[in-house]
Amino acid sequence: MFKWNFFKSKDLNLSQIDFSLIKTDLHSHLIPAIDDGPETLETSVKIIKTLQQLGFKKLITTPHVMSDYYKNTTEAILSGLKSLQQEVKLHNINMQIEAAAEYYVDYEFEQKIGKEKFLTFGDNYILIELSFIEAPKSLHEVIFKLQLEGYKIILAHPERYLYFTDKDYLNLARRGVFFQLNTLSLIDYYSSRVRKRAEHLINKQMISFIGSDCHNMKHASLYKKCQNKKSWQDLHNSNKLLNYTL
Ligand SMILES: [Fe+2]
Repeated sequence: MFKWNFFKSKDLNLSQIDFSLIKTDLHSHLIPAIDDGPETLETSVKIIKTLQQLGFKKLITTPHVMSDYYKNTTEAILSGLKSLQQEVKLHNINMQIEAAAEYYVDYEFEQKIGKEKFLTFGDNYILIELSFIEAPKSLHEVIFKLQLEGYKIILAHPERYLYFTDKDYLNLARRGVFFQLNTLSLIDYYSSRVRKRAEHLINKQMISFIGSDCHNMKHASLYKKCQNKKSWQDLHNSNKLLNYTL
């Protein structure tokens, strides 16, 4: 039954803007037992089914690569992807799945630039993440070196780096860094400060990608709520989103 809830909150009834309009999710942790994502293939499949119901046609899953916690190699990620693809096929789920990685920018990562071929997706995009405490001192150098190697950089969840100022965001954007907002930042999942920062970046039209950063069923169960946010409508209407190109 249609509900007249337009006047109750600033969030509209926007269920028509589901994720089929953006087609592809580019940030998730769905390969089991490789990082802080699901432990079993069974849970991975359950999550993927939920993402399919939300409208996604393609998932680019991005396990953490961190020298301290998750020392995932390209081989380990690709072998995990193969098992996941087989399981998804076995369950007759119509979902295209690819893998890349979410590279944590630290000293070890910087040392590998130019020596190792990183996992990428789309038009040679590499997904990177930063410390939540402070920006790496060599961030601009890392960006420069990656770009010299031909990578296009996507910064995961810029809204979660609360130490960044407007000037910092602008500086990164001017260097050609693309910003990927986390879907759950549209609600108060991480914090209200993160949500406000997300809304700010959307208003500034600085967001090029939206990503689920899905780790578990709890995350998967919350995306529906995000689809009803006015900020999601604003982001979608900005015509800046590039997910569909992937
Ligand atoms: Fe992530």
